[in-house]
Amino acid sequence: MNNNFLSGLGIVLLCESAVAVPAGTTIDGGNTIHKTDVITPGAKWKDLEGKEIQAHGGGILHYKGVYYWYGEDKADGYLNYIGVSCYSSKDLVHWDHVSTALPSQSMPAEYGAKGILERPKVIFNSKTDKFVMWMHLDHPGYSHSVAGVAISDSPQGPFKYLGELSPIQGSTYRDMNLYKDRNGAAYAIFSGDNNASLYAVELNADYTNVKTPMIEGTTWAQIVPNESREAPAPFYYNGHYYLLSSGTSGWAPNAAECYEAPHILGPWHSIGNPFVGKESNTTFNSQSTFVLPVAKHPGCFIYMGDRWNPGNLADSRYIWLPFKVHKDGTFHIHWRDSWSLSLFNHWTSPVKE
Ligand code: GAL
Repeated sequence: MNNNFLSGLGIVLLCESAVAVPAGTTIDGGNTIHKTDVITPGAKWKDLEGKEIQAHGGGILHYKGVYYWYGEDKADGYLNYIGVSCYSSKDLVHWDHVSTALPSQSMPAEYGAKGILERPKVIFNSKTDKFVMWMHLDHPGYSHSVAGVAISDSPQGPFKYLGELSPIQGSTYRDMNLYKDRNGAAYAIFSGDNNASLYAVELNADYTNVKTPMIEGTTWAQIVPNESREAPAPFYYNGHYYLLSSGTSGWAPNAAECYEAPHILGPWHSIGNPFVGKESNTTFNSQSTFVLPVAKHPGCFIYMGDRWNPGNLADSRYIWLPFKVHKDGTFHIHWRDSWSLSLFNHWTSPVKE
């Protein structure tokens, strides 16, 4: 394979001959076209049609060998003008825009083009065979701050909006994530109490509401009290739950902090900022949104962050970086100008999915 590719995604490459090849591919001496597998954090990332990917504050569902990336489509601006986008890929590098999985028009007007829909996440419920989406819904000024729930029979949607709720009575619901545990129990993890504290709340059997009766310490917990953390991104490895988070400075990046616990409901304790090197105090100019386990490489993960561009939110970029959790449970995340998914083969031998 010829390594003469330029900075990876979205760039048309010309190597040994003057033959134009599609974005995301490279060409060798024999003019054979190969797909590249390079991720360039912070570069414009285009879908298979050549349009910039719009999946901000997003997350990934891995279902039947396909990755589905859901996120905020901000092509038309800050408010929920368009809806939740869905892209699919088999290799995590080349993404097909499959749908607007939850179109803005299918939402109540207050959360449609006049409202705010942020950080949508999707998990699959194998008992009901439904795909379940949770999101943060709000009014401009973040004066309402509730959870929204939608379901679909297929990953690409269209998702049907079911309604809104406040998982913890009296608490706001803002930056959020979903976490499906190994026993099938699922949790909403979110920033509550006007972003003062992070909460985890177990969902009911069909994942469309909270599990009742709610019992503190058993079905829900204030997992990181009074530390003003948001952008929670949970993951699990080898008996340890981890939770990446950001500080609360709006679109401006800040230092990450990671927490670790023996159970999703805690007790959680800080293990500090895992980002190292230049600009690690701004999480390499990004804010966490998701951590993706690499299915074939246990212990290997991809950090997914948003590099928000407040002046032009549509042009916010994606910071994806690989990392490996060591046997002793420690890990660090380093900056890379570009990296290839084959890196994981150097870290661990692939296992069957
Ligand atoms: C951040 C949050 C983003 C968005 C932004 C608006 O704190 O993580 O998702 O809500 O504020 O300023």
